[in-house]
Amino acid sequence: MTITRLLITGGAGFIGSAVIRKLIHETDTIVANVDKLTYAGNLASLATVSDSERYSFQHVDICDAGAISEVFDRHAPHAIMHLAAESHVDRSIDGPGEFMQTNIMGTYVLLQAARAYWSALPASEKAGFRFHHVSTDEVYGSLGNKGYFTETTPYRPNSPYSASKAASDHLVRAWHKTYGLPVVISNCSNNYGPYQFPEKLIPLSIHKALAGAALPIYGKGDNVRDWLYVDDHADALLTILKKGTVGGVYNVGGENEKTNLEVVTTLCAILDDLRPRPDGKRYVQQISFVKDRPGHDKRYAIDASKLKQELNWGPRETFESGLRKTIDWYLQNDAWCEIAMQNYKGERLGVTS
Ligand code: NAD
Ligand code: DAU
Repeated sequence: MTITRLLITGGAGFIGSAVIRKLIHETDTIVANVDKLTYAGNLASLATVSDSERYSFQHVDICDAGAISEVFDRHAPHAIMHLAAESHVDRSIDGPGEFMQTNIMGTYVLLQAARAYWSALPASEKAGFRFHHVSTDEVYGSLGNKGYFTETTPYRPNSPYSASKAASDHLVRAWHKTYGLPVVISNCSNNYGPYQFPEKLIPLSIHKALAGAALPIYGKGDNVRDWLYVDDHADALLTILKKGTVGGVYNVGGENEKTNLEVVTTLCAILDDLRPRPDGKRYVQQISFVKDRPGHDKRYAIDASKLKQELNWGPRETFESGLRKTIDWYLQNDAWCEIAMQNYKGERLGVTS
């Protein structure tokens, strides 16, 4: 399937910007980026593509139905990839309202605008149109020590964030079943890599380690996540958009299950190598166990065999190689980090409930 014009929501965020950089650097696709620029949106993440004639930016809230409908008319996209969301679990615990608004109502607004636009397309273009909804493995809830999330695992979201994403997945499915909108949904595990806002475990730990501050590990540090390098996710998303079955769901994962303590100790060891502490001590000594996250999901692990078998996709990066690249990037991009940290000073989030 050829997609000449693609509308991306949330393209100033961590994953959206990785997708846009890949599209502009490696393809001929014309990309329109719709983003509200919340605290998590950063146009500096698009500095390497912003001069391209194939890239344009629309400063728009996806909840604004009039503005979204204009964006569809102006850009006449062949597909939309929807990433815009409030994405941080801890913030959803402190203030769930914004999550309901953007993740649920924003998705509803986009679906309605896409449906109106798609309905008016000539028959020759209608079948090729796609609404790709980018979602999370957190909709499936929490696993015990064994087992994996598959595309048929029942939804059991536990946080306001994951509940809002689950709701948005249901809306997308319903717009396909009821109105025939050609959708595809992907549910991915934890991403890491360059340009991630430093509220999430890996970039926050890098930032705090370099500042000589305590590295907060929630609970005992034995919660498990399945880590995927962000460029591998971007690659999977473009594969699913182009080749995925209409109405299909695809799980995306890295086959990299790690406890949080393993993640932070590995990160500390790489930092010891790349930027040793001036006093000769080890970064691991900065680890501090703190109060657990309310409703903290124990384990996420993805069975990505459908994506591998149907669309021949697999991750390229190992956790160690991806983490080293990530840390190296943060060490060399102080200016980007400073912009991001204007909106957040590293304080503990998610314990006010
Ligand atoms: P992010 O928080 O880094 O970026 C979100 C982007 O959406 C920001 O640029 C923000 O300005 C924009 N945005 C927020 N509300 C908006 C609104 N109302 N209108 C327009 N733009 C708005 O998030 P991310 O980590 O890049 O995640 C992107 C998507 O992928 C999300 O839907 C998330 O649920 C999903 N996801 C993330 C991960 C992960 O590990 N980060 C894993 C699986 C799925
Ligand atoms: O699984 C996919 C999800 O991964 C995405 O849908 C979310 O958008 C993304 O934020 C991420 O959610 P998590 O809650 O898993 O990510 P976070 O980086 O916030 O936390 C990862 C793990 O580390 C989690 O078990 C909580 C723990 N943690 C987190 C922070 C910020 C700590 O122990 N200390 C911390 O300071």
